[in-house]
Amino acid sequence: MAKIISIANQKGGVGKTTTAINLSSALAIHSRRVLLIDMDPQGNAGRGLGIDITAAPYTIYDALRGTIDIDKTILRTSVKDLSLIPSNLRLASLEASMYARPQEKPFELLKKALEPILDRYDYIIIDCPPSLGLLNLNALACSNSVLIPVQCEFFSMEAVASILSSIHDVQISLNGSLQIEGFLLTMYDARTQLGMEIQQEVRRLFKENTFVTVIPRNQSISESQARGLPVTSFRPSSQGSYAYIALAKEVLDHELA
Ligand SMILES: Nc1ncnc2c1ncn2[C@@H]1O[C@H](COP(=O)(O)OP(=O)(O)O)[C@@H](O)[C@H]1O
Ligand SMILES: [Mg+2]
Repeated sequence: MAKIISIANQKGGVGKTTTAINLSSALAIHSRRVLLIDMDPQGNAGRGLGIDITAAPYTIYDALRGTIDIDKTILRTSVKDLSLIPSNLRLASLEASMYARPQEKPFELLKKALEPILDRYDYIIIDCPPSLGLLNLNALACSNSVLIPVQCEFFSMEAVASILSSIHDVQISLNGSLQIEGFLLTMYDARTQLGMEIQQEVRRLFKENTFVTVIPRNQSISESQARGLPVTSFRPSSQGSYAYIALAKEVLDHELA
């Protein structure tokens, strides 16, 4: 049975997609069968894995609407044991199309779509959009846990407060067993005072819920996305790659705890 982890924070540009791609790839390198699902209409998870999302015949949109067998939406990637369900801009119209069908449970579309494939993977990683709407709620409603990237910069803490409150709402209304996988500090620059202060603040507030691993700001990570590869394939011996491999190890260790 797959463990489903949403990568969520309604603030854009904090490293959600980067973490979704590279954590997925690092888990696959640790010999786990992984499915990455792009729930953001921007489609960056697919792009970052070198997939032409405009040419993908089917996307998560089709699986959510139930018009296509989910198997047909799953693509292989260049990483062994890592598959992807891409998205593209059509996903943005899901919300509108759901209002036209009020009889369906709008927050459980993803849960329902994933049921037939849960036993095929060890991990399903969901890259969430930067909002707290229907797509995010679908992701949280079917997840076992949520991983929250926190960018080491000013203003990131307000976003953390609001994602925490929506997780709380989901725990009450949609998914009582949703857990917090952890807070992940991203784009850390040890040379800046601010980076250090935010790290201290996050650790003070969330203690053992904060991953020991910190993702450094690292050029190999941003370059790898432009090349359509996870950093673990593009530059396996970069600091960025080591960091995501270490993060994957921590996620795996949570199973034993
Ligand atoms: N650790 C990092 N080092 C350098 N650049 C990064 C790092 N993490 C993310 N980026 C870059 O920051 C930008 C935003 O990251 P992204 O993962 O797309 O954020 P989100 O999905 O939260 O909007 C992207 O251009 C990405 O390449
Ligand atoms: Mg993103």
